[in-house]
Amino acid sequence: MRACYANVQSSVSFAAMPMRVAVCVSGGGSNLEALLDAFASPDDAVDIALVLSDRASAGGLERARRRAVPAEVLTSPENGEEWLHLLDAHQIDLVVLAGYLKRVPPKVVAHYSRRIINIHPALLPAFGGQGMYGKRVHAAVLASGRRESGCTVHLVDEEYDRGPILAQRRVPVLPDDTVESLAARVLEAEHQLLPAVVREAARRGRPVPLR
Ligand code: GRF
Repeated sequence: MRACYANVQSSVSFAAMPMRVAVCVSGGGSNLEALLDAFASPDDAVDIALVLSDRASAGGLERARRRAVPAEVLTSPENGEEWLHLLDAHQIDLVVLAGYLKRVPPKVVAHYSRRIINIHPALLPAFGGQGMYGKRVHAAVLASGRRESGCTVHLVDEEYDRGPILAQRRVPVLPDDTVESLAARVLEAEHQLLPAVVREAARRGRPVPLR
C-alpha cells in the first residue's frame, strides 16, 4: 500500500495524506454519488481519485466527469494487467465496488488483497452469490417472506459476495412492499453505510469491521 500517513509537513505539524479510492461501477452510480458527496472537501481523509467501469454507457461515468473525477472504461474487464496499470497510475489505495457487476480479475484481488470492498443490497450471507444482483435480490427477499432486509459491505475475495463482512445496515420489509419500494429503502441505507465504511478505512489505514 502507498504510504498514506505521517507525511511530515513541517517540524511541528503532521498532515495525513488522503486515502485514494477507486470506485468501480456498471450502472447508475448512486452509491458513487453518495461517496462523492461524503468526501467533497479537499480536506477529507478520502479522495475519490478514479472511477472505473466495464461499460461506456454506465451512468456513474457521467457523474464522475461532472465532478471532474478521472473516469476510465476498461477495454477488457477480465484483463488484470489493465486494472493494475490504471490503479497504479492513479496511486489507488482502496478499491470500492459500487454496483460493479463483473468479476474482478484474480490478479487484482491478489494484488489488492483486503483492499477491495463491495456493497451488496441484502443481508449477506443470504441472497448473495453469482446472478444475485439488482431486482433479483429484492424479488428473492420478498418471495422468502422475510420481514427484514438491508445491505452489506464486505471484503472481496475470489468468490462472489463471500468475503468477510465489514458492516450491515438493516431495513424493514413492509407488507405492501414491491421490488421497487424495497430496493429504494435498501439503496437509501447503502448511501449511509458505504461512506461510513470508507471513512473508517481511511481512519484506520485499511478496511475494518465497523462497530
Ligand atoms: C446497489 O444496490 C448495490 O448494492 C449493488 O448494485 C446497486 C448499484 O446501485 N451492488 P447504484 O449504481 O450505486 O445506484
